[in-house]
Amino acid sequence: VRTVRTVDEIRALSRSWKREGTRVGFVPTMGALHEGHLSLVRLVRSRCDRTVVSIFVNPLQFGPGEDFDRYPRDLDRDRSLCEGAGVDAVWAPSPADLYPEGFATAVEVEGPLATSLCGGSRPGHFRGVATVVAKLLLAVEPDVAVFGQKDAQQVAVIRRMAADLALPCEIAVAPTVREPDGLALSSRNAYLTPAERSQATCLKRGLDAASALFAAGQREPRHLLGACRAALESSPLARIDYLALVDAATLVPVEPTLSRPALLAVAVFFGRTRLIDNALLSPSE
Ligand code: PAF
Repeated sequence: VRTVRTVDEIRALSRSWKREGTRVGFVPTMGALHEGHLSLVRLVRSRCDRTVVSIFVNPLQFGPGEDFDRYPRDLDRDRSLCEGAGVDAVWAPSPADLYPEGFATAVEVEGPLATSLCGGSRPGHFRGVATVVAKLLLAVEPDVAVFGQKDAQQVAVIRRMAADLALPCEIAVAPTVREPDGLALSSRNAYLTPAERSQATCLKRGLDAASALFAAGQREPRHLLGACRAALESSPLARIDYLALVDAATLVPVEPTLSRPALLAVAVFFGRTRLIDNALLSPSE
């Protein structure tokens, strides 16, 4: 696998591939790669000839007091996982490559898409995400970029931004990859103590409880949310950050009953570690 650093290098490499008539796919990451990221790579490889993975812990999307400093970083390990997964290029820019002296531009998606849910708990987070993803996409110029469904709101924000800026890139989504006990894979799972780790299954149990009620015909948000809340509250170490049932496209809360595809989204703190997960509830017509 080839490793490149600067915007100019990755753009030149991607353009050289395109001149050969190959399709370029892109997986943006913050490193600390796990099976979830590798599933994104597999999706790209099934659809493109060349795969680029970026590894960059983006300071702009972390708030004060968040885990930017302790976020796991191991480029050699990530690079060998990419090698094993058949990635063609790892792009590992430095902060100075992406945010040179005097950098003063931000990309901001407005409204509930970026201010609800995680945007409420992490002010400025999606501004940081949109800004870096715009830069990454403009540098790699991929045909397809793939993101994980676990970060459903991130997907909604990026889709909006890509449409609004007419970025010539398809945004594709891959399903959430889970541990055998249901916990969604996340680089932040590494922060959990053994006791927190065993209780962290409450997110998936809550989503499953609500999905089962939904499958049985329940369409009232308070009952669906109540079933999820009960599972979360059965874990004494879990502190609910938010629990919401929102329209899957607009992220506006579902009222008064669920009649269009909806996203049941949860964020839970275990100590300082914040985990998120979601389930799509789609009424068939
Ligand atoms: O999902 C992530 O890892 C990050 O938010 C992303 C998309 C790489 C932007 O920094």
